[in-house]
Amino acid sequence: MKYKVKLVQISDIHIGSLFRQDMFDLVVEETNEIDPDAIIISGDLTDDGLLFQFEQARKEIARFNCQNKIILAGNHDYRHTGYLIFKKLFPSRLVYEFDDAVILTLGTARPDRDEGEVGYRQNQWLEKNMNRYTQKKVKIVAMHHHLIGIPDTGTDKIIILDAGDTLRACLQSKVNLILCGHKHRPWLWKLGPLNIAYAGTASSSRFRGFFENAYNIITIKDGRLTIEIKIVGGDKMPLVNLVDNYKPFLDGS
Ligand SMILES: [Fe+2]
Ligand SMILES: [Fe+2]
Repeated sequence: MKYKVKLVQISDIHIGSLFRQDMFDLVVEETNEIDPDAIIISGDLTDDGLLFQFEQARKEIARFNCQNKIILAGNHDYRHTGYLIFKKLFPSRLVYEFDDAVILTLGTARPDRDEGEVGYRQNQWLEKNMNRYTQKKVKIVAMHHHLIGIPDTGTDKIIILDAGDTLRACLQSKVNLILCGHKHRPWLWKLGPLNIAYAGTASSSRFRGFFENAYNIITIKDGRLTIEIKIVGGDKMPLVNLVDNYKPFLDGS
């Protein structure tokens, strides 16, 4: 039997005033049903990086029945010295290996700053380590901040400061998929063989341009990559459909 890897990307849970418990309960139920090989939680677990919010986040995340929980920090998590708490409560590896795929994670959040940064050393680390996995058919990088701007999300001043260096490192390393969160706007860019998939917010009402809670499902079979969006409690479709059927939310019609 050919091996299949299933990943779920859940982003921007945002435990805080705009957290939607009912939506999160559905995310847990649906994800446990999917039974993925790994869950990538791509940052902004909390609104303010406060201890009680992190403790609630830890309880909620413990409800996922999955051995591999890849948990990244977002800019909201790094507020109010949340960067100290996050590291204690959510220790995570940097590299996750599967039969057909490898996932490397990048830390883009910086204390008390909204913009992201990868940095020279981390980019170097990425290139060096990706080169160790040339035999893997699918190479994935996961990060919180969005690497390239996306529609309907306003200013891009909180983008990754050194996005160009990271993009080059990913293309050079033949990365197939970059997973981002942060903007709460599901989207997909394709740059040749590189897919950049953005997840929406799984469980908060901080919507931007897309007004449903959602998460991404990534399937790798025979070295082929499928990226789908799942509306929480609703339909599943290829993520690229959002791009192909794009209409501005306020189009005057
Ligand atoms: Fe967020
Ligand atoms: Fe964010």
